[in-house]
Amino acid sequence: MTKDNLEALIEGIPKAELHLHIEGSFEPELMFKISKRNNIKLEYNSINELKQAYKFNNLQEFLDIYYIGAQVLIHEQDFFDLTWAYLTKVHSQKVVHVEVFFDPQTHTERGVEFATVINGIYKALKKGEQELNISFRLIMSYLRHLSEEEAFKTLESSLPFKHWINGVGLDSSEKGNPPSKFVNVFKASANQGYKLVAHAGEEGPSEYIWEALDLLNVIRIDHGNRCLTDDKLVARLVKDSIALTLCPLSNLELKVIQKMEDHPVAKMLNQGILATINSDDPAYFGGYMNENYYETSKALKLSKDQIMKLAINSFKASWLNEEAKNKHISEVKSYFESI
Ligand code: ADE
Ligand code: ZN
Repeated sequence: MTKDNLEALIEGIPKAELHLHIEGSFEPELMFKISKRNNIKLEYNSINELKQAYKFNNLQEFLDIYYIGAQVLIHEQDFFDLTWAYLTKVHSQKVVHVEVFFDPQTHTERGVEFATVINGIYKALKKGEQELNISFRLIMSYLRHLSEEEAFKTLESSLPFKHWINGVGLDSSEKGNPPSKFVNVFKASANQGYKLVAHAGEEGPSEYIWEALDLLNVIRIDHGNRCLTDDKLVARLVKDSIALTLCPLSNLELKVIQKMEDHPVAKMLNQGILATINSDDPAYFGGYMNENYYETSKALKLSKDQIMKLAINSFKASWLNEEAKNKHISEVKSYFESI
């Protein structure tokens, strides 16, 4: 397929995004605009200087900059604008359903109220549902470099907004912060009715994926790249239909893989894993959903059937109800029949 044909094919596919950190969709242009509006000086003098800093050797180098960027977010309007910018962007890429992570602790640690953060994000998601026809779920993520006690405080702060929050996740610095550190708070979160997911096996070993499954009882793994080193783990993921939310451009930019040709998604599909493609932190890694689909399909020479499978998986692995899942999946199939 030519570049133009592959791009056009991907652009037309209805798809769901299941792994997106809203703070990671903060484009430099909007960051500067909001920093001026709030009178907060960024460490970088220009958009170009900031973009120059987006060269990472590992997850931690990225996180250090990601947390700096988030510091300009103060008011409800800032969180609204951030979320709305993401939604309008993915609307143009035929994303019809999103499951969005937010990191409350990144903001509450700086004195911003939990309510301010979630009100802004939720209002934009509601507007997106009404005006752009994008359905959504919201996932509150605990920062794993902080203590379990801190996560408990966050759980407590979330309770007045429980009806808006569908699940909890675990993100930030993986190495040295295993899922086992958060067993109690995940149990307490499940007791509140939250669904459970966790980042595991991005930089950390396959043991962290086992821990996320067996100790935290998650129903989906974010990333999970490292599972292929362990046949028993692959068998478990397949048997229990545990989806992986993979993020190819993120993996490339954070040196989880050295080149896109090394990305494990094709092998995962071949082994029957419910693999999906997502953008993680698109403002930092050079692409939203379509760029992730495109770069992966090109490098791995994915067939049309494999690309279709990825889109179908995005709905299968979502938290939509069965009726909505089936509707989207038949739309994906009709699209592929029509081309
Ligand atoms: N927070 C934002 N992006 C992340 C990633 N890729 N891994 C862990 N934590 C994150
Ligand atoms: Zn992530």
